[in-house]
Amino acid sequence: MSESEFEPKIVAFCCHYCAYTAADLAGSMRLQYPPNVRVVRLPCTGKVDILYLLKAFEDGADGVYVAGCMEGDCHFINGNFRAKKRVHYAKKLLDEIGFGGDRLEMFNMSASMGPRFAEVAREMVDRIKKLGPSPIKTVQTQKSGDKP
Ligand code: FES
Repeated sequence: MSESEFEPKIVAFCCHYCAYTAADLAGSMRLQYPPNVRVVRLPCTGKVDILYLLKAFEDGADGVYVAGCMEGDCHFINGNFRAKKRVHYAKKLLDEIGFGGDRLEMFNMSASMGPRFAEVAREMVDRIKKLGPSPIKTVQTQKSGDKP
């Protein structure tokens, strides 16, 4: 499958107070961003667990990102710092197993950054297009192809 044919599935875990609102703003501003991104709203990125991130990949995402408030602006004080640590740890795990930590990223933005939300969505789609489909999908396709 060529880079241009591949349409990656991307899951974005977005904080209600910033990235989710920025996504709304991007919509109101009629900013174009790829439809590949599925937004999951969280009350704060501090809620994100490593298992959520890994489960998203297991369920077919080719890329995952977490978008939280700007550093120092988390409504729950340090939720975005906790998320940053978890994302960093999960990236290391994904690298160690050869999956590729680059498929996962953390971003910070404020509620007024609609254009930045759209830019991040495009950035992740471009990055994942270059990386290709998730290795999990390749294994699943091979397994289903093996069935009689
Ligand atoms: Fe937005 Fe914590 S409230 S990251």
